Amino acid sequence: MGMNISKIRKKLFAAPHVSLGHFPTPLEFMKNLTHNLDGPQLWIKRDDCTGLASGGNKTRKLEFALGDALAQGADTILTTGGVQSNHARQTAAACARLGLRCILLLVAPPDWATDSYRTSGNIHLDKIFGADIHIIPQGADPNEEIAAYAANVSDTGGKAYMIPLGASTATGALGYVACALEIFTENPNVSHVISAAGSGGTQAGLIAGFAALGEDVICEGIDIDAERNRTEQRTRNLLPDIMSLIGADHVTLPPVIVRDGYAGEGYGVISPLAETAKQQVAHSEGLILDSAYTGKAMSALIAGVKEGRYGKDDTIVFLHTGGFPLTFAYS
Ligand SMILES: Cc1ncc(COP(=O)(O)O)c(C=O)c1O
Repeated sequence: MGMNISKIRKKLFAAPHVSLGHFPTPLEFMKNLTHNLDGPQLWIKRDDCTGLASGGNKTRKLEFALGDALAQGADTILTTGGVQSNHARQTAAACARLGLRCILLLVAPPDWATDSYRTSGNIHLDKIFGADIHIIPQGADPNEEIAAYAANVSDTGGKAYMIPLGASTATGALGYVACALEIFTENPNVSHVISAAGSGGTQAGLIAGFAALGEDVICEGIDIDAERNRTEQRTRNLLPDIMSLIGADHVTLPPVIVRDGYAGEGYGVISPLAETAKQQVAHSEGLILDSAYTGKAMSALIAGVKEGRYGKDDTIVFLHTGGFPLTFAYS
């Protein structure tokens, strides 16, 4: 039995929260792609238009994570990711707006990285937002590095707040509970939501939101780094705490579905299938997807339609999670 939508909203916004984005984001019908594929109704939720530093899925999570940081009196935020982390870029921009110091511990680029991957796109923007950037070696434990830097902040009289990879804590994921409510309000016929899944907070928030509403909407995550089991576990681990935060512990959760086979050779590595999907969406809808996340997720959706995984009666929402600056990192 689901909960009333205004009750969930009330619970959500009782949590510390800071406004950073443009919400609700549009939900648009992809008329040409729907026609060309001749399958289910295909919609796109434009979380690439969240308004913060070119947009993306981290805006919603940061509204709750940084709300919590401010409530705790933090003056310095520490987080981690790769040199092309969308999360790091959005955190740097949000910190600039909120007057917080931002320390980014970015994992050194992989061996295959081109010059633009090393210097353009997100890392270029991190610098513009004035983040304090430290490159950590590949294979180092980012959490240990964060803890060491946080200790240094405390020693010098600051108050540190640590945001783990992708802001995928139960608190951060509340942003995607809010997104589930938004999608349902915009189109109650939704049967599936499909999104790229990495650190799991986006998918977990969506699953929790629809489950709390009592709506049988399948929220599929698409593995983007050829680590399906790890991703699925990350999503699964977040769910109990999210349900608890929104007062929905009593609600039965659906199985977690993370689809593999669309990540190519691994995180950030170009996949021919994803590049074709990017082109198809650019040519039919005038939309930009990226090579590391949304292109791979879209390739799974297109393959799923062609293989008959979704029926003509389904209403599918593709969640555009952003990543626009990656266009230049891969140029
Ligand atoms: C553009 C984009 N899409 C999807 C994701 C995956 O979201 P999550 O980490 O919440 O699973 C990320 C995470 O970095 C991202 O940058």
